[in-house]
Amino acid sequence: MAHEICLIPGDGIGPEVAEAAKQVISASGVSIEWRLLPAGAGAIEEFGEVLPEETVRAIEAHRVALKGPVTTPIGKGFTSVNVGLRKRLNLYAAVRPVRNLPGVASRYENVDLVVVRENTEGLYSGIENEITDGVVQSLKIATRTGCTRISKFAFEYAKSRDINRVTVFHKANIMKKSDGLFLDCARKIHGEIGEGIDYDELIIDNGCMQLVRDPSRFQIVLMENLYGDIVSDLCAGLVGGLGVVPGANFGDGCAVFEAVHGSAPDIAGKNIANPLALIMSGVMMLNHLGETEAAGKIKTAYDTVLSEGNPESITRDIGGKGGTKEFADAVVKAMG
Ligand code: NAI
Ligand code: MG
Repeated sequence: MAHEICLIPGDGIGPEVAEAAKQVISASGVSIEWRLLPAGAGAIEEFGEVLPEETVRAIEAHRVALKGPVTTPIGKGFTSVNVGLRKRLNLYAAVRPVRNLPGVASRYENVDLVVVRENTEGLYSGIENEITDGVVQSLKIATRTGCTRISKFAFEYAKSRDINRVTVFHKANIMKKSDGLFLDCARKIHGEIGEGIDYDELIIDNGCMQLVRDPSRFQIVLMENLYGDIVSDLCAGLVGGLGVVPGANFGDGCAVFEAVHGSAPDIAGKNIANPLALIMSGVMMLNHLGETEAAGKIKTAYDTVLSEGNPESITRDIGGKGGTKEFADAVVKAMG
């Protein structure tokens, strides 16, 4: 039976990388019926809103989505579709595996870590008020429920994959209450279900320094929303950039798979973007669906293309001369 999967192409490079991912996933032999869904500025004309109700409902019904990036205007305009979607669907856990890939040059070897980011609370919610002219406040929300469930998620994820260290990044020296609550919950969950798993905590500025100094000492890094957003891009830089880091957003009912990168307006529409991050997100999606054979096939294929290193088949961000389409074609060809 075919899986019914929602596909949000998004905007900027979104439609290009989504097309490439779709092509590769189809070629893996798995049977998928895609439900194309709108979101972002492009959805306003047709549906009158950036996150149409129809899109949210469809993901609720089908439970799994593959999503391209969506642009959020800076300093003005509509609130983030990404934040809206994560809140509406209660996608509280973002998981971003960061690993070296064969043939992809980086300053580090042996990077193999996972960023686990709380995805619904924190400063990233963008809850702001102008108190008076020239004075604004931004609210950072932390709840015991939110901090506990993300901690549980991180330790359960560690257990399910035989990962034996969880490190929390925080700033509880300054934000004693909010980050203090996050730490309380993480420690408690470690005590309850973290047997055999090392647990440590780093103040986030030091954590960033340690990451760029020796990323191999980290396995799971767990943190609140905004820190996770920033540290994810930092970690992408350790292994070759945003073109090679996938992601998944998990809730109790639904899962939305999307790359860490954004809509990259600087390279949109030029067949330059690396579709690998979204293809890898697709592999995570297939594993989630139990389609492990198809997932393995795609992984072997992109590993082969990267190892062979034909510049015509590899995108510029990782040292090649090829385009989005050429990379997708090469991966399909490598699947035989
Ligand atoms: P970005 O991630 O779109 O781009 C940062 C840099 O990385 C740019 O130089 C871009 O060309 C490059 N890059 C990104 N993805 C790439 C790929 N697949 N292949 C090759 N190069 C790639 O971040 P930026 O420019 O800060 O944000 C652009 C827009 O994306 C903003 O409106 C932002 O709100 C939105 N955004 C959306 C996300 C989502 O939908 N999940 C996530 C992050 C940002
Ligand atoms: Mg980000």
